[in-house]
Amino acid sequence: MKIAIGGDHAGFGYKKELIPKLEKWGYTVTDFGTSNEDSVDYPDFAHPVAQAVESGECEIGILICGTGNGVAITANKHQKIRAGLCWNEEVASLIRQHNDANVLSMPARFITLEEAEKITKTFLTTAFEGGRHARRVEKMIC
Ligand code: RB5
Repeated sequence: MKIAIGGDHAGFGYKKELIPKLEKWGYTVTDFGTSNEDSVDYPDFAHPVAQAVESGECEIGILICGTGNGVAITANKHQKIRAGLCWNEEVASLIRQHNDANVLSMPARFITLEEAEKITKTFLTTAFEGGRHARRVEKMIC
């Protein structure tokens, strides 16, 4: 599975730690930046990740900023993106099972790195349940 990952300066540290983990777990990762802790604007990194998922270049996106909200709001401007903000494993599981989220958004300033790793693993290994949830997901588009 190909994964697009990106985030701003607040997410850089966790992104740097997550990439080798993802590769160890067998995923192919494209890093859309940022590449250090210098202050940047999160949309500059959220849009490329969203575009990579929307185009099919990558199947899943992972975005990280301070609250996880800036990158999620930006990614959700893209028609084919369903980005979910996630702060624990249960939410990670539910946004895959019920919402068919294709982008995981995490708040680096409010979760530990260990939590971020567990959330990521859960998100990537949980399937969409379909059924009544498919009908609801179809109704999201406007
Ligand atoms: C950066 O300071 C911070 O605003 C950003 O990482 C994010 O939390 C925005 O939603």
